[in-house]
Amino acid sequence: MKLLLLGSGGREHALAWKIAQSPKVEKLYIAPGNAGTAEVGTNVALKADDFEGIKAFVLREGIDMVVVGPEDPLVKGIADFFRADAALSAIPVIGPSKAGARLEGSKDFAKGFMRRHNIPTAAYRTFTRETLDEGKAFLRTLKAPYVLKADGLCAGKGVLIVPTLDEAEKELEAMLGGMFGNASASVVIEEYLSGIECSVFVLTDGKDYQILPEAKDYKRIGEGDTGPNTGGMGSVSPVPFADARWMKKVEDRIIRPTVNGLREEGIDYRGFIFFGLMNVLPEGTDVANASEGDPYVIEYNVRMGDPETETVMLRLQTDLVELFEGVATGTLASHPVSFDSRSAVCIMLVSGGYPASYAKGYPISGLKDVQESIVFHAGTALKDAEVVTNGGRVLAVCSYGKDGEEALAASLKNAGKIHFTDSYFRRDIGKDIL
Ligand code: AMP
Ligand code: GLY
Repeated sequence: MKLLLLGSGGREHALAWKIAQSPKVEKLYIAPGNAGTAEVGTNVALKADDFEGIKAFVLREGIDMVVVGPEDPLVKGIADFFRADAALSAIPVIGPSKAGARLEGSKDFAKGFMRRHNIPTAAYRTFTRETLDEGKAFLRTLKAPYVLKADGLCAGKGVLIVPTLDEAEKELEAMLGGMFGNASASVVIEEYLSGIECSVFVLTDGKDYQILPEAKDYKRIGEGDTGPNTGGMGSVSPVPFADARWMKKVEDRIIRPTVNGLREEGIDYRGFIFFGLMNVLPEGTDVANASEGDPYVIEYNVRMGDPETETVMLRLQTDLVELFEGVATGTLASHPVSFDSRSAVCIMLVSGGYPASYAKGYPISGLKDVQESIVFHAGTALKDAEVVTNGGRVLAVCSYGKDGEEALAASLKNAGKIHFTDSYFRRDIGKDIL
């Protein structure tokens, strides 16, 4: 088979690494890819949302399947574009239709969907400029901290968690006033849930689903979960509290109602669903008994997580291309998934200054000295045959271990061998739950 994978981050390098291991793959292209994906496939200089360019390439190269990494092309309707085009309609796209991608593209849609299907999530209401005063009144009925979410896509920046009522009212006004452009023309205000986050992933063919290894990501820049939010500074899999008992709650209350709900609403959904969950613990529960908690959906994403994919792909033993074929042919039920029982930990090496402004183009050294870790490239480029930094998140250093501690130690050791100007990484990934 000839596959085309869209995207250019650490998630896509991890997906490409896994796809390339399949004996079914004759040729793997990544558009646009990065210096890491070039090691496992062939990069193509096309943007992931250049539908006409992608069409021309797919037809020219005789591509058999398209796998979509990021949400943007899905929200813009790439799956619909393929299905509506006579020359492309027989080529499966792994990723939901535009209607399905609203689970991520519109927070208000996602909340309404959960309400319709009785899926546990924080209580909420949605407001616009016209209903600003009602929004302020609703804020007064909630307890601090206050959670405000821009309805539309904001590259992960559209959620504000605000400590006081006064600030929440001001932020609501600013958001509705265009703080995130049109994306915040509607704002979801919701109840704050306190607990421990966990990312759960499934692949679905629209009828059946297979659950992939779960993971936890670390979003804050600083150790001990301090400082501003980033795209993710590392991940671990498995998550100790996500044992069979807790995962059964997730499956019964969240996964099955979501897949069934999509089908009942006539939404064409063939791809990944990423459930961003909060494990809410009953008052006084010890963290050691966290599997007693109740899972709530914080958000849906219609793609894999980054940096979760990096650890999930390490632990997925099943041939990913066979799973994709199951999605494409509606036979996913006959493709059970098996996991590596080892732990995986990923540490993200980022550019100094990230998540605010940072420089690009610094040479990276030491990659060849890495032993027993797998390094996925997140933001790199090739310049005169040399790997240079090309983003905020630069490299994901991932390792296996008999447990999380051992995997973390291996990733730390190897992260220390890689050098570029002003590099930074967190040393405490997973320590809170291991
Ligand atoms: P989102 O983009 O929806 O994932 O939100 C970003 C982050 O904000 C999440 O990963 C959570 O850490 C936090 N968050 C979002 N909604 C809530 C909520 N209702 N209660 C507590 N934390 C939340
Ligand atoms: N790691 C969270 C995300 O990919 O949105």
